[in-house]
Amino acid sequence: MNYLFKKIRIINPFQNLDEIADLWIKDGVIVKIAKEISTTDNDIEIIDSQTLVASPGFFDMHVHFRDPGFEYKEDLRTGAESAANGGFTGVLIMPNTKPPIHDKTVVEYIKSNTQNSIVDIYISGTITQNQEGKLISNMLEMNEHGVKLFTDDGKCVMNSDVMRRAFDYATPKDLLISQHCEDIFLTEGFDMNESEISVKLGLKGYPSIAEEVILYRDILLSEYCGNRRYHAQHLSTQNSVDLIRYAKRKGLRVTCEVTPHHFSLTEDTLTSYNTNFKMNPPLRKANDLQAIKEGLKDGTIDVIATDHAPHSNLEKEVEFDKAPNGIIGLETAFGLSVTHLVEENWLTINQLIEKMSVNPRKILHLPPISFQENLQANITIFDPKEEWIVNKTNFKSKSQNTPFDNLKLKGKVKFIFNNNKVYKSSL
Ligand code: DOR
Ligand code: ZN
Repeated sequence: MNYLFKKIRIINPFQNLDEIADLWIKDGVIVKIAKEISTTDNDIEIIDSQTLVASPGFFDMHVHFRDPGFEYKEDLRTGAESAANGGFTGVLIMPNTKPPIHDKTVVEYIKSNTQNSIVDIYISGTITQNQEGKLISNMLEMNEHGVKLFTDDGKCVMNSDVMRRAFDYATPKDLLISQHCEDIFLTEGFDMNESEISVKLGLKGYPSIAEEVILYRDILLSEYCGNRRYHAQHLSTQNSVDLIRYAKRKGLRVTCEVTPHHFSLTEDTLTSYNTNFKMNPPLRKANDLQAIKEGLKDGTIDVIATDHAPHSNLEKEVEFDKAPNGIIGLETAFGLSVTHLVEENWLTINQLIEKMSVNPRKILHLPPISFQENLQANITIFDPKEEWIVNKTNFKSKSQNTPFDNLKLKGKVKFIFNNNKVYKSSL
């Protein structure tokens, strides 16, 4: 492996770097960065980079790889390849597997099956045993085995006393507690957002307050328990953005993420009854979309994460109310972000890199990434100007449940470099 990128724009917020230079990567190591590199190496691919950008490798802190237990939807290998194809050099996998990631045995199973991956696979563990919301999992032990974040994602820890104990339990090691915010008593049997449209379509609604009451409760609990670290997952409503803004102003150690589908789509798409628009939390209204974009712009929202949630065709091609929640997202995240955020002037490309690479790593206390000679490359190369049509048959995910097939996007991933390997995107 030997690549020379001529006149590429290197952006690395970790180093306050934004410059045009030649970048030479050989056998996964950055050999040289300089204004002009000439080489007598024969066996080298020289790439005239024009509009290309080299950024620290993207990191998705919310993916479901379904392994162990649901490998027909995705497994650790196909999940990692899907991530690589979408430009991610690192991911955090969610623990709602079967068995759930709630003890060191499952953690070790995943570690031993992801050893030679180009994508760094980090593991989250459950807050409660079997995600039942009752007994706290052995978070300290899982943390000793490398688990960085704790969540019952897919489910919400409803019981406030259990949540309080989770924060207390996290205190000695300052562990990161994270939540899928959903008051399940307000959402039972839901199909979509609760609105005039859900009434018209005859679909059961999920009111936005179901997310907001839990988010506010958790913000209060995290403060009450001594200003604990708390990360809110896949927020979807205007009031949620306001609540995070309030928490940050107060100096609380609260962070949050949003998904590309929640800033690209509204509930209006549900009129098609296409189950690839069905997810949890559901698509919301135009004012929520607007609030999310404003929250991304003013720094209230720290991270863009996909909630990559593969399901088989057999499971999704059923009546709307019977279909499982979730869509895949790894291979469209960057294109959707450039199209809806950069092209619409909500974020600069540098700010997008912060949301897709820098901030998730900071939140998880992972080491920063450097562009430095003789250092192993952890890099995503992309073209922010290239237009392309999404073709789900080019995806590497085992599942195809995307609402974005055939959509024209701007911004395309080209390569990732990590762990001394290279991956050429085939989107
Ligand atoms: O849409 C979703 N799918 N939301 C979740 O919270 C869980 C996920 C899944 O695991 O399928
Ligand atoms: Zn999820």
